[in-house]
Amino acid sequence: MTENPFGHTPLPRKDQSQSEINFSYKAEITNVYALTATEKLYQIQIIDPVERHNFHFKAGQFVMLEVPGIGEAPFSISSSPSRRGDIELCIRSAGTMTNFLSRIERGVMVGISGPFGTWFPVEEMANDDVLLLAGGLGIVPLRSPIMTVLENRSRYGRVDIMYGARRPSDLLFGYQHDSWKQFDIGLDVIVDEAEEGWQGAVGMITEILGKRLQQGDRAQFAEKTNAIVCGPPVMFRFVCDMLLNAGLPMEKIFVSLERRMHCGRGKCCRCNIGSTYTCVDGPVFDYWSVLNLKESI
Ligand SMILES: Cc1cc2nc3c(=O)[nH]c(=O)nc-3n(C[C@H](O)[C@H](O)[C@H](O)COP(=O)(O)OP(=O)(O)OC[C@H]3O[C@@H](n4cnc5c(N)ncnc54)[C@H](O)[C@@H]3O)c2cc1C
Ligand code: FES
Repeated sequence: MTENPFGHTPLPRKDQSQSEINFSYKAEITNVYALTATEKLYQIQIIDPVERHNFHFKAGQFVMLEVPGIGEAPFSISSSPSRRGDIELCIRSAGTMTNFLSRIERGVMVGISGPFGTWFPVEEMANDDVLLLAGGLGIVPLRSPIMTVLENRSRYGRVDIMYGARRPSDLLFGYQHDSWKQFDIGLDVIVDEAEEGWQGAVGMITEILGKRLQQGDRAQFAEKTNAIVCGPPVMFRFVCDMLLNAGLPMEKIFVSLERRMHCGRGKCCRCNIGSTYTCVDGPVFDYWSVLNLKESI
């Protein structure tokens, strides 16, 4: 990686020695809620009360979820870091383990390990404006920084959330959107294709971002704004280019890169891009680092 011209402090990285420690917990799936035809929300509670009390994570980190006899896979923690007692994972049914999970009910015992990886520096964004952009399943990791910002709303300037999904029936956490709006934020939702009854916007997330970027003073936007972007690679490229063209420095744009992972602990070499392991050096990177990782997006 070349030297960072902005000289900013690199994102917090889990100490390598911590990957040697086994942060594994026995846990129970206490509730399962269907959100769409393919995604469910799982509330998961660590069994041991002391371990439960001591479990802390930061917005953007992930856990490895193990279903005994079926497998283990990484999932972003989608709930607020301040929520005590359980964590929430939103899981899309995609293959062996996630299809199995889509059929289970509450009461199933699982293992969770973690939290792993880097996080969004949401606390460091205090006093600044925050722009949170999600495409598709990207709203899942984004929900955690969203909750953090809303819970501490008075510490931030202007807050805008932009969320694009394929269809209205794919929208996640729609039941919370009205309550988010009560925190004096801008919330723009857009879908690629309308369905019957949809009265919202139709188009690409870049259209609502374009409107936002036309508002206000360019120099002030560049100085005061931090952006968090979660979504498919094609969205990163377009959205991040627009933010850069609007003057936002690369080190104020944060993205979550979800490569295929196996161990989640920096041991198996499945997730690396060159010498960078996305499971321990990421999944959250600033955009300057992303552009220095070949084939990252
Ligand atoms: C850091 C991180 C956070 C994640 N967070 C979430 C989350 O919050 N919610 C969620 O639903 N999923 C998330 N994923 C993806 C999730 O881990 C995979 O969907 C899961 O491993 C699939 O397991 P499976 O046994 O059901 O599928 P498999 O049977 O192993 O595979 C089914 C299909 O999914 C593909 N696949 C597996 N892993 C990935 C991946 N990482 N990216 C793209 N395609 C993949 C496989 O190639 C295959 O085509 C995350 C992945 C990472 C790396
Ligand atoms: S997933 Fe094994 S090294 Fe990253």
